[in-house]
Amino acid sequence: MALKKIKTAIFISGTGSNLKNLFKFSLTKKSPIIISFVVTNNEDAKGIIFSKKNNIESKIYKYFNKSNAENKILKDLNKKKIDLICLAGFMKILSKSFIKKFKGKILNIHPSLLPKYKGLNTHKRAIENKDKFSGCTVHLVSSKLDSGKIILQKKVKINKNDNHITLKKKVLKQEHFIYPIAIKKLLSNP
Ligand code: GRF
Repeated sequence: MALKKIKTAIFISGTGSNLKNLFKFSLTKKSPIIISFVVTNNEDAKGIIFSKKNNIESKIYKYFNKSNAENKILKDLNKKKIDLICLAGFMKILSKSFIKKFKGKILNIHPSLLPKYKGLNTHKRAIENKDKFSGCTVHLVSSKLDSGKIILQKKVKINKNDNHITLKKKVLKQEHFIYPIAIKKLLSNP
């Protein structure tokens, strides 16, 4: 008998390449998730176009007031019986009370080898510091920014001729590789 797939919401603010990748993964037999909903704060997020094309329900939440926006999101997540949230380039920080309501069920992908380079501009910082390696991390979301339990990481070598643009490209490729694996790992071992 086929296993029931976990209803998942992807939160995005931009391009949505991780959304695309997770959607592709969700269609495979091995996937424990089904993507039921896409949440964004940005009406221009390219990922919205992708969602529409692929018949994934999506919604834009204006962030004039964070707690109002979060309450609306929570209401919709509950209505849709969402059991897992995957942040994928979502540029808003979730409040403590939001995180509490989905404790252990919010994943994020971050473009550095955490705990190194929390926050923004990770690739620039790694290049400026002449690091030999960078990478990406999938972690659980906790109330401290980019600090929750690490589920999976992947190292990427920085070559002498890399700049933040080439590094971003290389890291993104690995993000697409590890995010599905991290999801499987979390759900098989919650
Ligand atoms: C990725 O680099 C991710 O690690 C970071 O935001 C970027 C999102 O890219 N949190 P995309 O929108 O999935 O292409």
